[in-house]
Amino acid sequence: MTIDKPFPVDFLWGSATSSYQIEGGYLSDGKGPSIWDVFCMIPGKVYNQDHGNIACDHYHRFREDVALMKQLGLKAYRFSISWPRVLPAGRGAVNQAGLDFYNALIDELLQAGIEPWVTLYHWDLPAALEFELHGWLGEGISDAFAEYADLCFQHFGDRVKNWITINEAWVVAILGYGHGVFAPGIQSKDLPYLAGHNLLKAHAKAVDVYRKKYQSQQQGKIGITNNCDWREPLTDSPADRDAAERALEFFLAWFADPIYNGDYPACMRERLGERLPSFSAAEKELIKGSSDFFGLNHYTTMYASDATQNSEAGSVYGNGGLSEDQDVNLSVAPDWPQTAMQWAIVPWGCRKLLQWIEARYNNPPIYITENGCAFDDQLIDGKVADLERIAFFEGYLSAIHEAISSGVNLQGYFIWSLLDNFEWASGYSKKFGITYVEEGTLQRVPKDSAKWYGEVISRNGL
Ligand code: GAL
Repeated sequence: MTIDKPFPVDFLWGSATSSYQIEGGYLSDGKGPSIWDVFCMIPGKVYNQDHGNIACDHYHRFREDVALMKQLGLKAYRFSISWPRVLPAGRGAVNQAGLDFYNALIDELLQAGIEPWVTLYHWDLPAALEFELHGWLGEGISDAFAEYADLCFQHFGDRVKNWITINEAWVVAILGYGHGVFAPGIQSKDLPYLAGHNLLKAHAKAVDVYRKKYQSQQQGKIGITNNCDWREPLTDSPADRDAAERALEFFLAWFADPIYNGDYPACMRERLGERLPSFSAAEKELIKGSSDFFGLNHYTTMYASDATQNSEAGSVYGNGGLSEDQDVNLSVAPDWPQTAMQWAIVPWGCRKLLQWIEARYNNPPIYITENGCAFDDQLIDGKVADLERIAFFEGYLSAIHEAISSGVNLQGYFIWSLLDNFEWASGYSKKFGITYVEEGTLQRVPKDSAKWYGEVISRNGL
């Protein structure tokens, strides 16, 4: 078979999950509750009153899941540690059974020849810290996070060489503290900027602990993963081009500029003034340069147009963030195909975003730590023919191949997700997996896309 689009030697092919979305065992063996355990109990917050109490029961089936990964030929697996599983009250007493679980998972992965990529925070904050510290709004949260990170480096860092501090600070801040559709469910126009500020400080403090106490001995890498859609100017007018740039700055540069350039983007400071907290000189110093790689989660694209003339129309459509602060209207083209999340499928947007990152941040090593799609998959005669998902990945991987050929330093790619799982406020209604998880039995059935991905990995190309 000919390979049209070979990927670089050593390209890292992986797949990703997160603790709350797959583990279950929500109070097993001493685990404490997280804000998602609590959020799911509030009527009306999650589709169908779904919750992660059992989820994919990965807590009990992880060996079977690692066997699946091995069969696929995955080189890397990105998962997250549940903070309240190892520290049930967020701080203080350690839950040995929680450490045992992650030790066993890490060992199982290494035995299968799969590199563990560990995210420290994928949204399941210990509920105790929501009560005691006001979660990500609290002054003490960044120190609590650094202590938790220290515990993880200490126990797992002999074998884990790739660390991601925080998954998608934008989602935590905007959906958790702005729109209130994710835990802890707070709606505010100002608090997202405070939450974002504390997330950045927490990230930087954890990285500092790793670099000072562990990195020289453990020889691992540490970074952060941010998410961003592409924003394409709706027209060629300077106003729309500025609007698209502004939208990217409010989305990605909000978190990446402090890390690469030492402070928030100027356009955010201009528009938000005092509503955007400030870093002290010492904090800037700590944050700047605090990521060994650029972790990126990418799902979709929208058009952006200027809304300064009609700001009442400031759209709240889709992943716009607090649009009124940006004066940007978002839209999609009617002919763009969509996933079951109603996210437009626009592979070239991924290429443009990678090139934007390359230019703005001086060609950093990038890992796409999530990319994927939900479709209404059906299990028929023991098979799931998810051809739309295969087409999605072919499109995105082709665009990524183009980006690499143009000079983008992209070193790895993780499919979201290994398993159908708990899709946050959408519950189990949205299936992102390359493995089907049957309701009730929780039996795993690799979809056609899993087989396809296995071939891509073994050929190292398309
Ligand atoms: C990301 C998130 C994942 C997953 C995915 C699909 O924002 O990190 O947990 O849910 O979106 O919506």
